[in-house]
Amino acid sequence: MEIISAIAVLRETLKGRQPVAFVPTMGNLHAGHIALVEQARRQGRCVVVSIFVNPLQFGPGEDLANYPRTLEEDCRRLQAAGADIVFTPSVQELFPAPQQFQVEPPAIAGELCGAYRPGHFRGVATIVLKLLNIVQPDCAVFGKKDYQQLHIIRAMVRELNVPVEIVAGETVRAEDGLALSSRNGYLSPAERAEAPRLQRQLAQVKDAVEAGQQDFAALESAAAADLAGHGWQVDYISLRNAATLQHAQPGDTALVVLGAARLGKTRLIDNLECASN
Ligand code: PAJ
Repeated sequence: MEIISAIAVLRETLKGRQPVAFVPTMGNLHAGHIALVEQARRQGRCVVVSIFVNPLQFGPGEDLANYPRTLEEDCRRLQAAGADIVFTPSVQELFPAPQQFQVEPPAIAGELCGAYRPGHFRGVATIVLKLLNIVQPDCAVFGKKDYQQLHIIRAMVRELNVPVEIVAGETVRAEDGLALSSRNGYLSPAERAEAPRLQRQLAQVKDAVEAGQQDFAALESAAAADLAGHGWQVDYISLRNAATLQHAQPGDTALVVLGAARLGKTRLIDNLECASN
């Protein structure tokens, strides 16, 4: 496995190694990231994983400075998972000058998480487009854990004609159902014990939808109220059309229930797809 931080060296190294499968990350890797790497291995001859904590996607007061950076351990895990190249650019390498061109995503980027993290998806779209242009992979793998991110990247690639196939990876969870996340490490033991409630409430909404319940607003409020009653600060619980991410309408067949809520200082997100008739 090669560890490369210069764009020019990466481009030279990738010559003749197509098809390339790419997994962008911010590091502090867990089993969810590793599952994406294994999925990438099934897609490409050469697997490139990037590790870059992207300042553009963090708002003021968010955890950019404290975001866990564990490069040595990450590289050990990537080697074991069969990655071929780890791309670890510095901020200076990706932003030698202030980034003046940015990718402005459509209105959906201002809803759900975007309503609570202004500019977040502009920062994500911009870095992902830069990374895709640098790596020029045949396919890139993103987790459904960040469902809105996956939706926005798919739309960007389609509308900007980026020649890459976007592949979705299923969410990997702890045994108690909590979706794995680098931010779970911020939870106190008591918060960690409480954290699976978010997933359980989403599962209740999913079960009700799949049983034919169509009062979506009532389901959303009941889940949010349960979380609030257990000490959570709820940003949103929202049932959406899985393909468009617009608010779910009776008659929609593929839905997704998405939630974001804070336990103490830690913001957790999760989602579950639901099939409705
Ligand atoms: P990061 O949070 O490190 O996540 C990297 C990839 O891992 C994303 O595609 C994310 O959806 C996926 N992932 C995270 N937790 C997962 C889980 N429990 N199961 C499956 N996949 C999971 O998402 C980002 O980084 C950044 O926004 C990035 C796309 C790298 C741009 O900076």
